[in-house]
Amino acid sequence: MAGTFDISLDSLAGLSVAPENVSSEGLSASRQLQRESRTATGTLDGATFFLETFGCQMNDHDSEKVAGVLLSRGYKQVESPDAASLVLYNTCSIREKAAQKVFSRLGEYRTKQAAGQVIGVLGCVAQQEGEGIFERAPWVSLVCGSASYRKLPELLAQIEAGNQRVTGLDTDTDETFETPVTRRDNPWRAYLTIIEGCDKACAYCVVPFTRGPERSRASDSVLNEVRELSELGYSEVQLLGQTVNSYADPSSRRMRFSELLLAVADVPGIRRVRFTTSHPRDFGADIVAAIELEPKLCNHVHLPVQSGSTKVLREMVRTYTRAEYLEKIAMLREAKRPIAITTDIIVGFPGETEADFAETLSLLEEVRYDGLFSFKYSPRPNTPSLSMPDAISEEEKSRRLAILQEKQREIQGERNATLLGTRFDVLVSGKSRRENQWSGHSACHRVVNFTSQEANLLGTYVQVLVTSAGPNTLMGEQVT
Ligand code: 5AD
Ligand code: SF4
Repeated sequence: MAGTFDISLDSLAGLSVAPENVSSEGLSASRQLQRESRTATGTLDGATFFLETFGCQMNDHDSEKVAGVLLSRGYKQVESPDAASLVLYNTCSIREKAAQKVFSRLGEYRTKQAAGQVIGVLGCVAQQEGEGIFERAPWVSLVCGSASYRKLPELLAQIEAGNQRVTGLDTDTDETFETPVTRRDNPWRAYLTIIEGCDKACAYCVVPFTRGPERSRASDSVLNEVRELSELGYSEVQLLGQTVNSYADPSSRRMRFSELLLAVADVPGIRRVRFTTSHPRDFGADIVAAIELEPKLCNHVHLPVQSGSTKVLREMVRTYTRAEYLEKIAMLREAKRPIAITTDIIVGFPGETEADFAETLSLLEEVRYDGLFSFKYSPRPNTPSLSMPDAISEEEKSRRLAILQEKQREIQGERNATLLGTRFDVLVSGKSRRENQWSGHSACHRVVNFTSQEANLLGTYVQVLVTSAGPNTLMGEQVT
């Protein structure tokens, strides 16, 4: 059990700065940033940052925004923590293993830490652990959860002014983190957060605690950013949210999620629109109708089910039954365009019997997903399932996970085999070291590796004929 992460929600105070009674390492650290000279515009000159990201796409995109804020303050990004005056870890706490990684990284890093560096912990572990991080790793100076990123400039100013213990841990907000200065990693596909936080209360999940309540971004603001992205040359946008389809436009336009999808697709220059992650409860026929209507909306839906057993779903507080979930699947399968469906499943939730697990396996057979992300249940601090009886042993969880993954491998092998001889429109995003070998994604979000004699394909869309297919790979060749 992750007892060391336990904190009460009461301890999640808002923005605060602790007094300067800190270790010598901490003191020298922020003095370093103080020493960086200020330019006439008030930005830092000579300061550098290193930022490492753990976890999901939301975290990746948060890091892009954080990097943008730092660059606009005059920091330069460097590739190694050794070379940075500010070292930041954007952390994930969805499962215990992910959270542990951060502390082992901090521990590892301590021995290598150069004099005068400022260390910051961002993201979900920061939110979860709060000021406890200063106890566990006294060489850390900044602890900031994702719901407080909009205060980052303020927090950075405090660090630069020499404060030793700076925290942003507020989740009580109706604001989203919007910044005009996002520094995007991928030159063709842009992530765009349209809803932050989560109001669902799945019994196993830390997200409602670490990312706070749902806050949607105004549709005009989203559409303006998409127009800017298109002008910058991005042709694919991916709308992000923990429950992206629970989007509720706070502006007077009151656009529905499906209307927003269509409006984004309508922006000149945009060729592909993706969205993730959808919650089954809010997944309506209007979203399927939008995908049917608009070819620019990618024909892929990630619809986490978590379990095939209605009893376990009820214990998880997922708010739907197996039958209700299958109705959503039927809607997707009946669409005029084939839509790829992927899911998340947790095995070994407390009280999951062999019969419950058999129902998950039978759901896999029934739906025949195109992709699966599967996890062993991991007890997390503050979550209701932490205290549920009938824990499943690690050994049994591993056994169930292996069976589930083997079943999915079979299904994927069979499904992919039917794709032999079909053509995909592929956005090329990678070039192999092997000559004439490229890779990219289809609209249905499959990775396609292919051969082409052409040069400079990166960022272009090409037609690929599938010539071989395994459970996890599609190979093909470019056709004109
Ligand atoms: N244990 C295991 N898996 C979890 N997930 C969320 N919380 C937990 C947990 N405590 C999984 C869910 C979710 C995905 C992002 O991570 O399947 O959909
Ligand atoms: Fe977690 Fe459930 Fe919200 Fe997804 S919908 S982020 S699993 S609480």
